[in-house]
Amino acid sequence: MSRIYHSKLVNSTKMVKDAHANKYAIGHFNINNLEWTKSILEAAQESNTPVIIATSEGALKYMGGAPVVVGMVNGLLETLNITVPVALHLDHGQSVEMAKKCIEAGYSSVMFDGSHLPYEENISKVKELMDFANEHEVSVEAEIGSIGGEEDGVVGEGELGDPNQAAEMATTGITMLAAGIGNIHGKYPEWWKSLSFDTLEELQAACKLPMVLHGGSGIPQDQVEKAIKLGISKINVNTELQLAFRDATREYIEAKKDLDDEAKGFDPRKLLAPGYKALKQTFMDLTKVFGCQGKA
Ligand code: 13P
Repeated sequence: MSRIYHSKLVNSTKMVKDAHANKYAIGHFNINNLEWTKSILEAAQESNTPVIIATSEGALKYMGGAPVVVGMVNGLLETLNITVPVALHLDHGQSVEMAKKCIEAGYSSVMFDGSHLPYEENISKVKELMDFANEHEVSVEAEIGSIGGEEDGVVGEGELGDPNQAAEMATTGITMLAAGIGNIHGKYPEWWKSLSFDTLEELQAACKLPMVLHGGSGIPQDQVEKAIKLGISKINVNTELQLAFRDATREYIEAKKDLDDEAKGFDPRKLLAPGYKALKQTFMDLTKVFGCQGKA
Protein backbone atom coordinates (compact mmCIF):
# COMPACT_ATOMS: atom_id res chain seq x y z
CA MET A 1 0.00 0.00 0.00
CA SER A 2 1.36 3.37 -0.82
CA ARG A 3 0.06 6.56 0.68
CA ILE A 4 0.07 9.23 -1.96
CA TYR A 5 0.03 12.14 0.42
CA HIS A 6 2.30 13.17 3.23
CA SER A 7 -0.16 13.39 6.11
CA LYS A 8 -0.45 14.98 9.53
CA LEU A 9 -3.67 13.03 10.17
CA VAL A 10 -3.84 10.84 13.26
CA ASN A 11 -6.26 8.02 13.95
CA SER A 12 -9.11 8.43 16.45
CA THR A 13 -7.81 5.99 19.05
CA LYS A 14 -5.97 8.27 21.47
CA MET A 15 -8.61 10.98 21.12
CA VAL A 16 -11.56 8.79 22.05
CA LYS A 17 -9.67 6.84 24.73
CA ASP A 18 -8.67 10.08 26.48
CA ALA A 19 -12.25 11.32 26.16
CA HIS A 20 -13.59 8.05 27.59
CA ALA A 21 -11.19 8.10 30.53
CA ASN A 22 -11.89 11.75 31.35
CA LYS A 23 -15.63 11.83 30.61
CA TYR A 24 -15.94 14.17 27.67
CA ALA A 25 -16.74 13.49 24.02
CA ILE A 26 -14.90 14.19 20.77
CA GLY A 27 -16.95 15.91 18.07
CA HIS A 28 -17.32 14.03 14.80
CA PHE A 29 -18.38 16.52 12.13
CA ASN A 30 -19.54 15.48 8.68
CA ILE A 31 -18.15 17.60 5.84
CA ASN A 32 -19.52 18.34 2.39
CA ASN A 33 -17.07 20.71 0.74
CA LEU A 34 -14.16 23.11 1.20
CA GLU A 35 -16.10 25.63 3.33
CA TRP A 36 -17.16 22.89 5.76
CA THR A 37 -13.65 21.50 6.07
CA LYS A 38 -11.93 24.85 6.47
CA SER A 39 -14.37 26.16 9.06
CA ILE A 40 -14.11 23.05 11.22
CA LEU A 41 -10.32 22.88 11.04
CA GLU A 42 -9.98 26.59 11.86
CA ALA A 43 -12.44 26.37 14.74
CA ALA A 44 -10.64 23.29 16.10
CA GLN A 45 -7.28 25.05 15.94
CA GLU A 46 -8.60 28.28 17.49
CA SER A 47 -10.15 26.39 20.40
CA ASN A 48 -7.33 23.84 20.79
CA THR A 49 -9.78 21.00 20.20
CA PRO A 50 -9.04 17.54 18.79
CA VAL A 51 -11.52 16.72 16.04
CA ILE A 52 -12.81 13.96 13.79
CA ILE A 53 -13.71 15.07 10.26
CA ALA A 54 -16.01 12.59 8.59
CA THR A 55 -17.50 11.83 5.22
CA SER A 56 -20.38 9.53 4.47
CA GLU A 57 -19.97 7.46 1.30
CA GLY A 58 -22.41 9.86 -0.38
CA ALA A 59 -20.46 12.98 0.61
CA LEU A 60 -17.16 11.52 -0.47
CA LYS A 61 -18.61 10.58 -3.86
CA TYR A 62 -20.05 14.09 -4.16
CA MET A 63 -16.63 15.62 -3.55
CA GLY A 64 -15.01 13.44 -6.21
CA GLY A 65 -13.85 10.40 -4.25
CA ALA A 66 -11.57 9.52 -1.35
CA PRO A 67 -8.34 10.87 -2.93
CA VAL A 68 -9.96 14.30 -3.37
CA VAL A 69 -11.09 14.42 0.27
CA VAL A 70 -7.72 13.19 1.54
CA GLY A 71 -5.91 15.71 -0.65
CA MET A 72 -8.12 18.59 0.48
CA VAL A 73 -7.87 17.76 4.19
CA ASN A 74 -4.12 17.13 4.11
CA GLY A 75 -3.58 20.30 2.10
CA LEU A 76 -5.52 22.39 4.62
CA LEU A 77 -3.68 20.82 7.56
CA GLU A 78 -0.48 22.15 6.01
CA THR A 79 -1.59 25.56 4.75
CA LEU A 80 -3.67 26.45 7.81
CA ASN A 81 -0.85 25.24 10.12
CA ILE A 82 -3.18 22.93 11.99
CA THR A 83 -1.42 21.41 14.99
CA VAL A 84 -4.39 19.95 16.93
CA PRO A 85 -5.06 16.23 16.40
CA VAL A 86 -7.30 15.65 13.37
CA ALA A 87 -8.65 12.30 12.19
CA LEU A 88 -10.29 11.74 8.82
CA HIS A 89 -13.06 9.19 9.24
CA LEU A 90 -15.30 7.20 6.91
CA ASP A 91 -18.84 7.44 8.30
CA HIS A 92 -21.22 4.47 7.78
CA GLY A 93 -18.93 2.53 5.43
CA GLN A 94 -21.26 0.01 3.81
CA SER A 95 -18.65 -2.57 2.84
CA VAL A 96 -15.24 -3.81 3.94
CA GLU A 97 -14.01 -2.99 0.42
CA MET A 98 -15.05 0.64 0.75
CA ALA A 99 -13.37 0.91 4.16
CA LYS A 100 -10.15 -0.56 2.73
CA LYS A 101 -10.30 1.78 -0.26
CA CYS A 102 -10.53 4.79 2.06
CA ILE A 103 -7.65 3.50 4.21
CA GLU A 104 -5.54 3.09 1.07
CA ALA A 105 -6.41 6.63 0.01
CA GLY A 106 -5.25 7.98 3.40
CA TYR A 107 -8.24 7.97 5.78
CA SER A 108 -7.02 7.49 9.34
CA SER A 109 -10.26 6.13 10.81
CA VAL A 110 -13.17 4.11 9.40
CA MET A 111 -16.60 2.93 10.40
CA PHE A 112 -17.87 -0.35 9.06
CA ASP A 113 -21.64 -0.21 9.44
CA GLY A 114 -22.93 -3.76 9.27
CA SER A 115 -26.03 -2.93 11.31
CA HIS A 116 -28.29 -3.80 8.37
CA LEU A 117 -26.75 -7.30 8.15
CA PRO A 118 -27.52 -10.33 10.31
CA TYR A 119 -25.32 -9.94 13.42
CA GLU A 120 -23.06 -12.95 12.58
CA GLU A 121 -22.27 -11.43 9.21
CA ASN A 122 -21.73 -8.00 10.75
CA ILE A 123 -19.11 -9.27 13.23
CA SER A 124 -17.40 -11.52 10.71
CA LYS A 125 -16.94 -8.54 8.37
CA VAL A 126 -15.61 -6.41 11.24
CA LYS A 127 -13.05 -9.16 11.92
CA GLU A 128 -12.17 -9.25 8.22
CA LEU A 129 -11.42 -5.50 8.32
CA MET A 130 -9.39 -5.53 11.55
CA ASP A 131 -6.11 -7.01 10.21
CA PHE A 132 -5.95 -4.49 7.39
CA ALA A 133 -6.88 -1.60 9.68
CA ASN A 134 -4.30 -2.61 12.30
CA GLU A 135 -1.62 -2.95 9.67
CA HIS A 136 -2.26 0.67 8.70
CA GLU A 137 -2.83 1.89 12.27
CA VAL A 138 -6.33 3.01 11.41
CA SER A 139 -9.05 3.12 14.08
CA VAL A 140 -12.28 1.21 13.51
CA GLU A 141 -15.86 1.88 14.58
CA ALA A 142 -18.52 -0.84 14.37
CA GLU A 143 -22.26 -0.67 14.98
CA ILE A 144 -24.82 -2.90 16.65
CA GLY A 145 -28.56 -2.41 16.84
CA SER A 146 -29.48 0.45 14.54
CA ILE A 147 -29.83 4.22 14.49
CA GLY A 148 -33.31 5.55 13.77
CA GLY A 149 -34.05 7.76 10.80
CA GLU A 150 -36.39 8.43 7.94
CA GLU A 151 -37.36 5.65 5.61
CA ASP A 152 -40.18 6.08 3.08
CA GLY A 153 -41.24 9.27 4.84
CA VAL A 154 -41.62 7.57 8.24
CA VAL A 155 -39.19 8.32 11.07
CA GLY A 156 -38.31 5.18 13.04
CA GLU A 157 -36.52 4.91 16.38
CA GLY A 158 -34.07 2.23 15.29
CA GLU A 159 -33.24 -0.94 17.18
CA LEU A 160 -31.65 -0.93 20.63
CA GLY A 161 -28.20 -2.54 20.86
CA ASP A 162 -27.79 -5.95 22.52
CA PRO A 163 -25.24 -6.09 25.40
CA ASN A 164 -24.08 -9.61 24.46
CA GLN A 165 -23.27 -8.39 20.98
CA ALA A 166 -21.51 -5.33 22.45
CA ALA A 167 -19.30 -7.59 24.59
CA GLU A 168 -18.45 -9.81 21.61
CA MET A 169 -17.72 -6.84 19.33
CA ALA A 170 -15.21 -5.58 21.92
CA THR A 171 -13.15 -8.77 21.50
CA THR A 172 -12.47 -7.94 17.83
CA GLY A 173 -10.14 -5.08 18.79
CA ILE A 174 -12.32 -2.25 17.46
CA THR A 175 -11.60 1.22 18.85
CA MET A 176 -15.19 2.33 19.45
CA LEU A 177 -18.72 1.08 19.22
CA ALA A 178 -21.86 2.76 17.90
CA ALA A 179 -25.16 1.35 19.08
CA GLY A 180 -28.84 2.06 18.80
CA ILE A 181 -29.89 3.74 22.06
CA GLY A 182 -33.02 5.47 20.80
CA ASN A 183 -30.98 7.97 18.78
CA ILE A 184 -32.12 9.16 15.36
CA HIS A 185 -30.34 10.66 12.34
CA GLY A 186 -31.74 14.00 11.21
CA LYS A 187 -34.26 16.16 13.05
CA TYR A 188 -35.81 14.54 16.12
CA PRO A 189 -39.58 14.20 15.65
CA GLU A 190 -42.08 15.73 18.11
CA TRP A 191 -42.93 12.35 19.61
CA TRP A 192 -39.30 11.54 20.49
CA LYS A 193 -38.73 11.69 24.24
CA SER A 194 -35.28 10.52 25.22
CA LEU A 195 -32.21 8.40 24.68
CA SER A 196 -32.44 5.02 26.39
CA PHE A 197 -29.96 5.50 29.21
CA ASP A 198 -30.63 2.02 30.63
CA THR A 199 -29.56 0.53 27.32
CA LEU A 200 -26.47 2.74 27.19
CA GLU A 201 -25.49 1.69 30.72
CA GLU A 202 -25.88 -2.00 29.90
CA LEU A 203 -23.93 -1.69 26.67
CA GLN A 204 -21.13 0.26 28.33
CA ALA A 205 -20.83 -2.29 31.13
CA ALA A 206 -20.67 -5.06 28.51
CA CYS A 207 -18.13 -3.59 26.07
CA LYS A 208 -16.18 -1.08 28.21
CA LEU A 209 -15.19 0.69 24.98
CA PRO A 210 -15.55 4.36 24.04
CA MET A 211 -19.08 4.53 22.60
CA VAL A 212 -20.38 6.63 19.72
CA LEU A 213 -23.58 8.65 19.68
CA HIS A 214 -24.91 9.02 16.15
CA GLY A 215 -27.68 11.50 15.40
CA GLY A 216 -26.02 14.12 17.61
CA SER A 217 -28.07 17.03 16.19
CA GLY A 218 -30.79 18.45 18.41
CA ILE A 219 -30.45 16.21 21.48
CA PRO A 220 -31.19 18.29 24.62
CA GLN A 221 -28.01 19.34 26.42
CA ASP A 222 -28.83 17.54 29.68
CA GLN A 223 -29.21 14.26 27.77
CA VAL A 224 -25.91 14.78 25.94
CA GLU A 225 -24.15 15.42 29.26
CA LYS A 226 -25.71 12.33 30.85
CA ALA A 227 -24.77 10.17 27.84
CA ILE A 228 -21.15 11.34 28.11
CA LYS A 229 -21.07 10.40 31.80
CA LEU A 230 -22.33 6.92 30.84
CA GLY A 231 -19.61 6.22 28.25
CA ILE A 232 -20.34 8.21 25.08
CA SER A 233 -16.94 9.45 23.86
CA LYS A 234 -17.66 10.53 20.27
CA ILE A 235 -20.70 12.44 19.07
CA ASN A 236 -21.62 12.56 15.38
CA VAL A 237 -23.10 15.77 14.03
CA ASN A 238 -24.28 16.44 10.51
CA THR A 239 -27.79 17.92 10.33
CA GLU A 240 -27.12 20.70 12.86
CA LEU A 241 -24.26 22.04 10.73
CA GLN A 242 -26.40 21.87 7.61
CA LEU A 243 -29.21 23.80 9.28
CA ALA A 244 -26.81 26.47 10.55
CA PHE A 245 -25.36 26.84 7.05
CA ARG A 246 -28.85 26.98 5.54
CA ASP A 247 -30.09 29.65 7.96
CA ALA A 248 -27.09 31.93 7.47
CA THR A 249 -27.21 31.58 3.68
CA ARG A 250 -30.95 32.25 3.67
CA GLU A 251 -30.44 35.44 5.66
CA TYR A 252 -27.86 36.66 3.13
CA ILE A 253 -30.19 35.94 0.21
CA GLU A 254 -33.29 37.34 1.88
CA ALA A 255 -31.35 40.54 2.52
CA LYS A 256 -30.78 40.47 -1.30
CA LYS A 257 -27.03 40.78 -0.78
CA ASP A 258 -26.46 38.31 -3.61
CA LEU A 259 -28.19 40.82 -5.94
CA ASP A 260 -25.82 43.65 -5.07
CA ASP A 261 -23.76 43.52 -8.26
CA GLU A 262 -21.70 46.54 -7.35
CA ALA A 263 -20.44 44.84 -4.18
CA LYS A 264 -20.10 41.57 -6.16
CA GLY A 265 -22.50 39.91 -3.75
CA PHE A 266 -22.80 37.07 -6.25
CA ASP A 267 -19.16 36.02 -5.75
CA PRO A 268 -19.35 32.52 -4.23
CA ARG A 269 -16.69 33.52 -1.74
CA LYS A 270 -19.11 36.16 -0.46
CA LEU A 271 -22.26 34.12 -0.89
CA LEU A 272 -20.87 31.22 1.14
CA ALA A 273 -19.13 33.33 3.80
CA PRO A 274 -22.09 33.67 6.23
CA GLY A 275 -22.65 29.89 6.15
CA TYR A 276 -18.96 29.28 6.74
CA LYS A 277 -19.02 31.59 9.78
CA ALA A 278 -22.16 29.90 11.10
CA LEU A 279 -20.44 26.50 10.87
CA LYS A 280 -17.58 27.80 13.00
CA GLN A 281 -19.97 29.13 15.63
CA THR A 282 -21.91 25.84 15.67
CA PHE A 283 -18.65 23.92 16.16
CA MET A 284 -17.76 26.19 19.10
CA ASP A 285 -21.20 25.83 20.73
CA LEU A 286 -21.31 22.05 20.38
CA THR A 287 -17.75 21.29 21.45
CA LYS A 288 -18.32 23.37 24.57
CA VAL A 289 -21.17 21.04 25.53
CA PHE A 290 -19.15 17.96 24.56
CA GLY A 291 -16.37 19.12 26.90
CA CYS A 292 -13.58 18.57 24.33
CA GLN A 293 -12.51 22.19 23.89
CA GLY A 294 -8.93 22.77 24.95
CA LYS A 295 -8.18 19.02 25.08
CA ALA A 296 -5.72 18.95 22.18
P1 13P B 1 -27.26 13.96 12.42
O1 13P B 1 -27.37 14.29 10.96
O2 13P B 1 -28.57 13.64 13.02
O3 13P B 1 -26.49 14.99 13.17
O4 13P B 1 -26.44 12.59 12.53
C1 13P B 1 -25.12 12.56 12.11
C2 13P B 1 -24.57 11.20 12.19
O5 13P B 1 -24.89 10.42 13.05
C3 13P B 1 -23.57 10.82 11.19
O6 13P B 1 -23.13 9.52 11.36
